Amino acid sequence: MRELTVSYDGDAPVLDGVDLDLFPGEIVALLGSSGSGKSTLMKSLTGFAPIGYGTARVAGHDVRNLQRGELRRLRAEVGQVFQQFNLIPRLSVMTNVLTGALHGAGPLNLVGNFRREDRERALQYLDRVGIVHKANEPARSLSGGQQQRVAIARALMQRPKVIFADEPVASLDPKLADSVLELLAEIAREDGIPVLMSLHVLPLALRHSDRIVGLRHGRMLVSAPTAELTAEALSVLYENEEDEHVDDIA
Ligand SMILES: Nc1ncnc2c1ncn2[C@@H]1O[C@H](COP(=O)(O)OP(=O)(O)OP(=O)(O)O)[C@@H](O)[C@H]1O
Ligand SMILES: [Mg+2]
Repeated sequence: MRELTVSYDGDAPVLDGVDLDLFPGEIVALLGSSGSGKSTLMKSLTGFAPIGYGTARVAGHDVRNLQRGELRRLRAEVGQVFQQFNLIPRLSVMTNVLTGALHGAGPLNLVGNFRREDRERALQYLDRVGIVHKANEPARSLSGGQQQRVAIARALMQRPKVIFADEPVASLDPKLADSVLELLAEIAREDGIPVLMSLHVLPLALRHSDRIVGLRHGRMLVSAPTAELTAEALSVLYENEEDEHVDDIA
């Protein structure tokens, strides 16, 4: 991303001149208070939020100037993980993972008609995320932590070039949160897939990321290796938010 700037409906930018590189093998935590632009940043990188100025290259695609049909390919190459998991509740865990292989495939690739090779890969990923024994259960019968593991296996099914995870552990209890972030960090390091994840809990970011990027009102205020940062150094992202809000209203 270079000078990445996003505004909705011609309003003031909600993302303002962000320069950021994601490297293979690293997991980067994106911090910032509510409304600072974390989700917007991830959305703009997959064409879900309008880039008004600047550039973004994702998996070799120039996101601002996509050619015909390129948006679908871009989205097929980006693994996404969401706070609410976004599984299909009544379908089996296995089928949910297999839908990751549908990205970029034609409409004829119907549920239940997956290639044997895809089924084998889906089972491998389920084994890797530790829930292969749940493969035939409906997704809705799993706990939150298990559902997020399914969502991660589904993302792996895409053979993603990068993974964006928007508050992947906000719906999980602290212990599960740690285990899911450990899994994402392992995928980043072992598979060489860059992972960008937004978080609201500083200690989780400090424990599980290689680098921290901090937004405030759409501007990048922090970008440093996690080992060089402390909770205190990050307080600049959050301080006086309430006061400013009062000023806004006044
Ligand atoms: N579709 C949209 N149309 C107009 N404004 C939007 C839209 N989506 C987000 N915004 C605005 O952009 C700003 C940044 O929102 P964003 O969702 O990126 O914040 P965030 O950092 O993800 O917050 P949170 O931590 O609450 O998820 C906010 O002021 C929000 O109101
Ligand atoms: Mg958000």
